Amino acid sequence: MPYSSPIPDNTPAKPVTIKTLHKRKADGEKFVMISLYDAPMAAMAQKCGVETVLIGDSLGMTVLGYQSTVPVTMEQMIYHVEAVARGNQKSLIIADLPFMTYATLEDALKNATRLMQAGAQVIKIEGGRWLADTVRRLSECGIPVCAHLGLTPQAVNKFGGFRVQGRDPERAQEIAEDARILAEAGAELAVLECIPSALAAQITRDVPIPTVGIGAGRDTDAQVLVINDILGLTEQPPKFAKNFLVEAGDIPGAMKQYVDDVKAGTFPGDEHIFL
Ligand code: KIV
Repeated sequence: MPYSSPIPDNTPAKPVTIKTLHKRKADGEKFVMISLYDAPMAAMAQKCGVETVLIGDSLGMTVLGYQSTVPVTMEQMIYHVEAVARGNQKSLIIADLPFMTYATLEDALKNATRLMQAGAQVIKIEGGRWLADTVRRLSECGIPVCAHLGLTPQAVNKFGGFRVQGRDPERAQEIAEDARILAEAGAELAVLECIPSALAAQITRDVPIPTVGIGAGRDTDAQVLVINDILGLTEQPPKFAKNFLVEAGDIPGAMKQYVDDVKAGTFPGDEHIFL
């Protein structure tokens, strides 16, 4: 896939697997995830050494112009998973199950199967302990699961907006317990979104699986950002986002800078985190 900047080729020698990410946690080496939606960006991520690409249902807002992720359909997810899988053979490919497509065990199995057959290697679902049986069953069936805790955007209507979660002790304890329960049920990874840094650090110490933070401070095992935020395409960017294009000057450079900064522990900065 052609693109302009002469960035060095950091394509992983072997395809990244869940085991690679677990080893990174054990070795204390940070890894990178980017939420992206098409083949050229997926190819660029591979060349930049991005370990995991997520086809996030954020595509409802970043690509399709919806106000939230709630309207996103399975067909839209499959279309973008197939595109990303065509562009990237080395990063681990994670895909979101959209809103209400995993509310029953039967739906979760059916819809996760569709995403896996489109090219996903891990399925991400949003929510806490109520998903323990779903995680267990998907995992038993050979479908690795990434949990998503804290601000779970599919529940935006219940939260009354995109709000930081876990600032009060009860909710913080609930999120921490959810992380433990889902890890015990077999989740392989956990995204932690918009929670105080100290809570994310505590969860990262408590659970044996890698944590991937977005607005969750510097102490998670990995970071994830949406490609539109990395490239300054978001009109009102969230506090946790950084436009890497401003300094880098071109798109491959911006992606590479994000990767380098996460691995060096210099992103997120103090201005991107919640206390
Ligand atoms: O949909 C998405 O892109 C996500 C990330 C922000 C974690 O869930």
